[in-house]
Amino acid sequence: MSENKAFWESEEFKLDELVYEATWPGGQGAVDRLAAKGKKPVRDLVQNLIDPGTEFFELSRIAGFGVDYPGVKDVPCGGVVTGIGKISGNWTMIFGNDSRVKAGTYFPITLKKHMRAQAIARQNGLNCVYIADSGGAFLPMQADVFPDDQHFGSMFYNMAQMSAMGLKQITLSTGGNTAGGAYIVFMACQSVMIDNMSYSFLGGPPLVKMATGEVISAEDLGGARTHTHVSGGADHFCGDQDDAIARVRDILSLEKPQELKLHRYESVEPKIPVDSIYENLPAAINQGIDGRLFLQAISDDSSFSEFKQHYAPGRGDNIITGKIRIKGLPVGIISSNAVGIIFYEAARKATEWIVRCSQEKIPLLFIQNAPGFMVGSDSEHAGIGKYGSDLVRAVSCAQVPKLQLVIGPDNGAANYGMCGRAYKPNFIFSTMRARTGVMSGASAAGVLLSIEEAKRKAKGNPMTEEEISDFRQKMMEKYDGEAHPFYCGSRLLTDRVLKFKEIRDWLAMGIEVSMLKNIGEPSFGNFRF
Ligand code: COA
Repeated sequence: MSENKAFWESEEFKLDELVYEATWPGGQGAVDRLAAKGKKPVRDLVQNLIDPGTEFFELSRIAGFGVDYPGVKDVPCGGVVTGIGKISGNWTMIFGNDSRVKAGTYFPITLKKHMRAQAIARQNGLNCVYIADSGGAFLPMQADVFPDDQHFGSMFYNMAQMSAMGLKQITLSTGGNTAGGAYIVFMACQSVMIDNMSYSFLGGPPLVKMATGEVISAEDLGGARTHTHVSGGADHFCGDQDDAIARVRDILSLEKPQELKLHRYESVEPKIPVDSIYENLPAAINQGIDGRLFLQAISDDSSFSEFKQHYAPGRGDNIITGKIRIKGLPVGIISSNAVGIIFYEAARKATEWIVRCSQEKIPLLFIQNAPGFMVGSDSEHAGIGKYGSDLVRAVSCAQVPKLQLVIGPDNGAANYGMCGRAYKPNFIFSTMRARTGVMSGASAAGVLLSIEEAKRKAKGNPMTEEEISDFRQKMMEKYDGEAHPFYCGSRLLTDRVLKFKEIRDWLAMGIEVSMLKNIGEPSFGNFRF
């Protein structure tokens, strides 16, 4: 086995360990406590909800690790499971509060994850199912989760907006939904409640007693029978979770089948095995890559139809452009190559290719391994600023779906030009080789050190060699640490950290899901040329 392969396998093993921790909060004891209440763990419910034999594409599994809130260091999986699966053949966004994580309450990261999944559903036109079992806002952090845009209220705003767009919002309540959280039941297009398990009220029994003196049980106040037989706030009364899951599937079984707005060719396996990714991607992040070889390992028949292959060798081909098919789905490629520094020729070529794919209405896949745009007077005078901004404009305005996959450095303005989070890719995936940060740890340490040295010198107290070395080390650790896929994944800067062998399946899903809506006409505003 090559050194690279051994390295990447051990890195992905660390990812497995983290995911295990995220998906088993509280261990078997927590599962037993759920069972005593007649409940299944949330992922079992999801698995029963989706079509038998199909895969649940779970998003952001490492969200919430190391977030360090007051009194809470980790929020496993962000406290809510989100992901995409098929129900009656239609791709659907599924949400499920994990009541094993602080009663499924909403921390800032829980909200961010919920909002991101709603944004994906909205952008791609997916129906939503909410498996609701939450104590509502995590009260010690109410100021950080309640009042602002993108806080608690936005969940219901999004539900209303999406239902107005014709996207079904279905709630299956399988536990408590109190105060603001009750709206998850009442705002749904159809809601399902379970006898002696689901509750939904604006104020629970203790609050009611305090406010009005009325003494009433949770069941009589806002249980399944009350809302389906008396208030009419919910629509379906079920005996248990299995019954409720079947009811949700039944409600969605009459939805119109989704239509793919892209021709699907026959799917062919790559000739180059996925192992080649493990073998060939250097363990050293700043070392160049063979972008064409990477593409061959993920594309049908290992085929890459390249655009402008011979343009400006050594500079223009730091980005390679063209088309591949993934599981029969054609996609336009903008991929880093070699060390990935973006010269102006590469920026111009990528811009041209984005415009062409937009005309053809085929989606774009950005494969990111770029530490930045080329600096220096040659580059500035040749127009790297204007050609870089043309690329950023093309990325911003392209009306076709965009996906980003990060396989290496992802720094500075190259993050913009290669469709980072701010450029609203339909999906953004990273790998254990991804490093997303304003600049590399070494560069950041150098810049900050020069500022610190100048300050200390001006004060007549220059830094000693030991202080310089300590300072540099600390800064490198901080910046490299914050660029790591675990740090970025835990803060939801990516939708999922993928293993190399998962890339093809996930990209195929992402392309298919993002091509379910009609594509508008291209319009780019003012290029500079
Ligand atoms: N904010 C902060 N922590 C909360 C919380 C909230 N809204 N709701 C529950 N928790 C915490 C509990 O303190 C407990 O923490 P611990 O494990 O460190 O002891 C943990 O979550 C589990 O709660 P518990 O009450 O033991 O779970 P349960 O399954 O018996 O009951 C609820 C779940 C949701 C019915 C119950 O916790 C509840 O009524 N919570 C308050 C709901 C509310 O009024 N929310 C209003 C906010 S909008």
